[in-house]
Amino acid sequence: IDALVHAIETAVTKPRTPLSLLFSHKAFQLLSASFGLVLREPNNLEAREGMLLGSTWAGLAIEYSMLGIAHSLANPLTAHFGTVHGQAVGVMLPHVIRFNAQDPAAYRAYEALGHTPEALATLVTGWLEQAQMHTTLSECGITEALLPTLAAEAARQWTATFNPRSVTVSDLEMLYRAAF
Ligand SMILES: [Fe+2]
Repeated sequence: IDALVHAIETAVTKPRTPLSLLFSHKAFQLLSASFGLVLREPNNLEAREGMLLGSTWAGLAIEYSMLGIAHSLANPLTAHFGTVHGQAVGVMLPHVIRFNAQDPAAYRAYEALGHTPEALATLVTGWLEQAQMHTTLSECGITEALLPTLAAEAARQWTATFNPRSVTVSDLEMLYRAAF
């Protein structure tokens, strides 16, 4: 899930370049084709290769284009509640996609992955369900009263500066509430 989030976030960040997009798009192609398969057929070596190579391409994309607010929002969840990183970025990403897609250039950048932003957000939730992971913050055991504190911390995360849309603390709190 983390590798998939890397592929998707790097495809829309402000510093993205034609070079980073080659890595992001190839990563997304491999990871999205392999994810369900590797869960259904754990011994399918071709699918495992797709996951490994896809996560490597996504990692290379990060070197050029950094990450976005799915990562900014995830880190405070891990710091306060010990939420596993892939779970934390995965539960936030669908909401981040819907938020970012209100920017026309970001909308097109998501679309370049081969799905409308809404379809992409739905896909991400589907992947979490396939992996028997949580799809809401309440299922993750996050305390609602702490959301304003988490939002203030998320705003101070370095990755927030690379997000395609600029964000305020209240935007980030709204995204936590949407995921709750
Ligand atoms: Fe990550």
